[in-house]
Amino acid sequence: MDRFGKYVKELFEWNEDMKKFLGSDKVDKNFALWEKLDNFTDLMESISTPLSDTELLNLQSEAETIHEEMEEYFNRKQELGVIWIAESVVPPGSHTLPDLPYPYNALEPYISEEIMKVHHDKHHYSYVEGLNKAELRMVEAREKSDFSLVKHWSRELAFHGSGHYLHTIFWENMGPRGEERPKRRLEKEIKSYFGSYEAFKKHFSEAAIQVEGSGWVLLVWSPRSRHLEIVQSEKHSGQALWDTIPILVLDVWEHAYYLQYKNNRAAYVENWWKIVNWSNVEMRFEKAVELKWNSF
Ligand SMILES: [Fe+2]
Repeated sequence: MDRFGKYVKELFEWNEDMKKFLGSDKVDKNFALWEKLDNFTDLMESISTPLSDTELLNLQSEAETIHEEMEEYFNRKQELGVIWIAESVVPPGSHTLPDLPYPYNALEPYISEEIMKVHHDKHHYSYVEGLNKAELRMVEAREKSDFSLVKHWSRELAFHGSGHYLHTIFWENMGPRGEERPKRRLEKEIKSYFGSYEAFKKHFSEAAIQVEGSGWVLLVWSPRSRHLEIVQSEKHSGQALWDTIPILVLDVWEHAYYLQYKNNRAAYVENWWKIVNWSNVEMRFEKAVELKWNSF
């Protein structure tokens, strides 16, 4: 192999790997970048060996440009907080229990192995099963156009769905090597909204201690007001499905229709469909699908 043969071979392999990666259904499509990689293949295939110095320089500068663009592409995605690996869709009834990201005893002495086993294997698993069941019952209801139990299954879906999603976040929010405090942008954000990390911690702890009965306390980000907030959740949900993004909502409080429709909520709902601004819903949807977590 001539002195640059190895370099070209490596470039070729890298290029093929990147093309395969960009072309796979596991990643956001970026056709412009894929095309550049493809053109680079053509360029490499067209050169003769041994390479002349000019050919080599050309190849090198072209490779560097593409390399930089690939890097920029991934960095941009990560900086935006967009997870660029496109996870597969979870069809109704197909949720699975994620593995704990560490061994059962990894959080000792703060949380015992025994708790972690029961909590993850029994409790979290039961939410996964409950969510799957609720989703399948909703599929059945739609197929039969029989919504007589929609209230019950909506409640089940929110309860078990929030249970599944929140536990999935919870496991990942913890780790065997706890960190003293947040860093970087989150630290700044906490300081600017709550005054100090200590004030935030006190607020969060008090909210947790004072949740009525069973529940959660959550630090959330509001894309609307662009600030953090601390909220309590009794049980899992109060009927809301956490870790989802509303894109179309309908207010059915009486104040929204009573003056005009009296107690005929069904008529209000029927008419409401005539005034839905789907362009707005579409816009919210487009923004929402940008955010991707690992699917379970
Ligand atoms: Fe739990």
